[in-house]
Amino acid sequence: MRVLFLGDIVGRVGREAVIHHLPNLIKFLKIDFVVANGENSAHGFGITSKICNELYDSGVDVITTGNHVWDQREIINFIVDDDRLVRPINFPRGTPGKGAVVRESCDGHRVLVINVMCRLFMEPLDDPFIAVEKAIDGISLGGELDFILIDVHGEATSEKMAFGHAFDGRVSLVVGTHTHVPTADLMVLANGTAYQSDVGMCGDYDSVIGMKKEYPIKRFITKLPTPRLEAAEGEATICGILVVTDDRSGLAISAEPLRVGGLLTEIMPLRS
Ligand SMILES: [Fe+2]
Ligand SMILES: [Fe+2]
Repeated sequence: MRVLFLGDIVGRVGREAVIHHLPNLIKFLKIDFVVANGENSAHGFGITSKICNELYDSGVDVITTGNHVWDQREIINFIVDDDRLVRPINFPRGTPGKGAVVRESCDGHRVLVINVMCRLFMEPLDDPFIAVEKAIDGISLGGELDFILIDVHGEATSEKMAFGHAFDGRVSLVVGTHTHVPTADLMVLANGTAYQSDVGMCGDYDSVIGMKKEYPIKRFITKLPTPRLEAAEGEATICGILVVTDDRSGLAISAEPLRVGGLLTEIMPLRS
């Protein structure tokens, strides 16, 4: 099975790049299933129902989120009835929406997508390791499920890397999001799980992690408050990964980076 994961979509330019390129990428790379992190897709803060539907229409099967999930309040109602938008699984008990969903690809492959948030330098949520343990308990990869994807939304590479190794061999992909900067450690771990500490963003890299530069720089230099940050508006780079799995085991055969457009060096995965 061939699964594409796209990192945090930031603002209008990130959305437009994904919507413009994704249909061709799906065709060209023979992709069976697409998951994208959409937590920054509405002006850099949160996501709306309209944006969810635009992303679904462009070929995204499941949207993951993170700490910015509720920045646009209307999504709190939308997520309750939507089966393709997930929020972190270790949010407090009673939080609207789901932290994990199972969806079928057009050719009948069953994919479990889990979104989880780390705790190091982030909010003190429930234990992310135990939350994911519970979500995959008794589930057989390669049996009832063809692909298990975990979007680990976190600040610290150490916590995300520990996560990858803790679930190595039991899931198809552990991919980090949230920092908006791609790491160079995309690999298949010893027991067959594809892993990358952070996939990067779908946004304008002439920025401070996707936001116009002036105010973030001012904040760091002066420590004074500034007006609200705004998403950068230059051409976005789409940052993603393509994972190919063995249909019998559900484990990764290969994992390749994909980068299209904007400032970062272009990388296109092999088609076969
Ligand atoms: Fe983000
Ligand atoms: Fe985040």
